[in-house]
Amino acid sequence: MPTNPAASPPRKLAAGNWKMNGLSAQLAEARALADAFPAPGVGVLLCPPATLLATMAQATAGSAIGLGGQDCHEAEKGAHTGDISAAMLADAGASHVILGHSERRADHGETSEQVAAKLRAAWGAELVGIVCLGETAEERAAGRTLGVVGAQLAGSLAEGATAANTVIAYEPVWAIGSGQTPTAEQIAEVHGFLRAQSPDPAISLLYGGSVNPGNAAAIFAIPGVDGALVGGASLKAVDFGAIVTALQTA
Ligand code: 13P
Repeated sequence: MPTNPAASPPRKLAAGNWKMNGLSAQLAEARALADAFPAPGVGVLLCPPATLLATMAQATAGSAIGLGGQDCHEAEKGAHTGDISAAMLADAGASHVILGHSERRADHGETSEQVAAKLRAAWGAELVGIVCLGETAEERAAGRTLGVVGAQLAGSLAEGATAANTVIAYEPVWAIGSGQTPTAEQIAEVHGFLRAQSPDPAISLLYGGSVNPGNAAAIFAIPGVDGALVGGASLKAVDFGAIVTALQTA
């Protein structure tokens, strides 16, 4: 199976999370992105549904576009119907895997402890884990943002997390898919806090939540923001390409 080699993750990273969107027709967007950025100079990652990983690896072969999964099981293999292992993702061409996304924490009750176990499983397959965390609107309104993300960080990062094997994505739950984004001060505050709490100061810290071509440059100008984890706007090569360009010039 062709693989897009996992380079040591560049600090600047634009990662597209396709979530549960994308049939094979969607591969054209990956191809267009690969054609537009043969050597982008920043990390560019697409995380499609697992069903598309292997064909997307072929569609982007020879380009600088990396691939990621959206979740993995904490066990290496075994009797876990419907789940996918880190080794399977790597075998299909992934170099990264998103872990602990708020949609998985909400839909599947994933705990930070499970996220840490999944992160260890990802490392076992030589995948870089993109660990997601973020507060709800209620938690922010109650002044609990830093307490919540601090607890998620402490619980979700397995011992041994470094810039070579882990990326952190701050995604306020209320900003995901809502068109709302925090203020620059709010993002800078959380990123500064996460940077101070993280075990390796070189770990790449992404912002996620309603990033689009219109706000990407302003978000990338915020101190402590190394890139973005993009949902809806990553489904179209032209939009995600504009976000990649904004990161290149940040
Ligand atoms: P949107 O960019 O669609 O708000 O989604 C963000 C996200 O959840 C990425 O993981």
